[in-house]
Amino acid sequence: MSASDSMLPNTATYPVICIDGPSGAGKGTVAWRLAQDLGYQLLDSGALYRIVGLKAHQLGLLEQSDNLDEDALEALTKSLDIHFSPSESLGRVDIIVNDELIGNEVRNETVGGYASQVAVFPKVRQALLALQQDMALRSGLVADGRDMGTVVFPNANVKVFLTASAEARADRRVLQLQNSGQHADKAEILANIQARDVRDEKRSTAPSKAANDALMIDSSALSAEAVYTEIKRYCQDKGICF
Ligand code: C5P
Repeated sequence: MSASDSMLPNTATYPVICIDGPSGAGKGTVAWRLAQDLGYQLLDSGALYRIVGLKAHQLGLLEQSDNLDEDALEALTKSLDIHFSPSESLGRVDIIVNDELIGNEVRNETVGGYASQVAVFPKVRQALLALQQDMALRSGLVADGRDMGTVVFPNANVKVFLTASAEARADRRVLQLQNSGQHADKAEILANIQARDVRDEKRSTAPSKAANDALMIDSSALSAEAVYTEIKRYCQDKGICF
């Protein structure tokens, strides 16, 4: 066993389900529902990068976007004590950072952009690795992100790569904003989605991609219910639920 193998969580003890894919493909919804259904913890790994991105922005560390200081970002990441806790609100988990409850601002598109800026750095990713892997040592886990099945939990019991066209993802986001009474500019949203996809897929460390053994699902023309049913059936086929 190599040194890096020995750092992997023992997935034989608790099952791990990984759901990777680009933003807006519906990962969060299906991951939350599966975690509720199976009584597993939920790891929203995007929230970790969003928090680091938001704090980095607040500290002025993202100002020189073409020349960011990886060591300063690593030090910031290591200084954050991040926990997830079950939320009263349907469809989400609460995020606590240094004893402070993080609000919804972490979920907006601007912070998604900050997250993808800091996520390119190997030292930032490394600083978040143990926190993510440790979650699988305590109970079953549904992990949602970009590199769950490829890097963080390569031995996971179930791996799914959930994608959708950029157009379909932008339409969903527009609807979501309109339903919550907010202004939505589809062209701007689509451009943001495409820019984030490129940065996440082209980075050299842990790029967003499907694991070789992942089930591929394109949700462009599927309802959330249909996606959930397909993944649940796949988990049943893999023998981790009935
Ligand atoms: O999934 P979410 O949109 O919240 O992720 C925000 C950003 O965090 C992504 O665009 C990506 O750059 C980064 N991320 C990542 N690896 C993960 C999860 C998110 O690099 N496992």
